[in-house]
Amino acid sequence: MHPSRPELRSERLLLRPIEAGDADAMQSYRGREDVTRYLLHEPLSPAATRARIAQSLERWGEYPAEWFSLSFAVELLEAAEGDEAGGEAIGDLRVWNLLPDGSAPASEEPSIFWLGYALHPDMQRRGYAREAAALLIGWLFEEHAASEVRAIAWAPNTASIGLLQKLGFRVFLELDAEQEPHPKKLPAVHLRIDAAEWASRAARAAPTPPAAPTESEES
Ligand SMILES: CC(C)(COP(=O)(O)OP(=O)(O)OC[C@H]1O[C@@H](n2cnc3c(N)ncnc32)[C@H](O)[C@@H]1OP(=O)(O)O)[C@@H](O)C(=O)NCCC(=O)NCCS
Repeated sequence: MHPSRPELRSERLLLRPIEAGDADAMQSYRGREDVTRYLLHEPLSPAATRARIAQSLERWGEYPAEWFSLSFAVELLEAAEGDEAGGEAIGDLRVWNLLPDGSAPASEEPSIFWLGYALHPDMQRRGYAREAAALLIGWLFEEHAASEVRAIAWAPNTASIGLLQKLGFRVFLELDAEQEPHPKKLPAVHLRIDAAEWASRAARAAPTPPAAPTESEES
């Protein structure tokens, strides 16, 4: 794996840097009203999708770096490995401590990252978002010395809040619609998980190693 182009694999998924060739697949979900209802952007046109990807490619061009904004495409591993040309993106996730246009930090410390995601509706409710987000969060804690990962969801986005809570995130800030700077004017929920909590959940999830044999058992 080239350090500037990380590829992460879980049981069912491949996460790899977004590419120009992902535009049609991405537009098939980020172009939909039901997917974008609780996103910061309205349904994307094909041109807007290409512009979004072009900006992501600029950020990938600067990586590795301490401050970054990285968009990963999610593919089903089975499709990715069965097809020479690679599989089609079923969704994407972004992790960042830098604004997407690269103009300024997005958090007060480089070790504090934000997470965002969207999946094609045909691929939702199968545990893929949870699997992909867990992979990427683990990567931030392990490879980028993250101290904390945060996410923001609009309060009615129960799917996203449920997903984050299943991953161990806890609410640390709730904002009324009026306090929200975004024109959608919905109440927002900010959630986070820190490195210690992530490590202790990972240790709890790991299978318990068999007990060391006692002297009498050994003989
Ligand atoms: C949020 C989103 C990525 C979840 O993807 P997903 O692959 O369906 O999620 P998973 O199957 O991994 O589900 C993980 C957990 O999230 C919660 N969840 C997911 N979808 C849900 C839904 N429709 N209603 C309630 N809870 C839901 C559940 O707690 C679920 O665990 P469970 O299946 O054990 O009950 C997906 O709904 C999506 O792309 N939404 C549109 C874009 C968006 O809103 N992004 C987030 C912006 S903050």
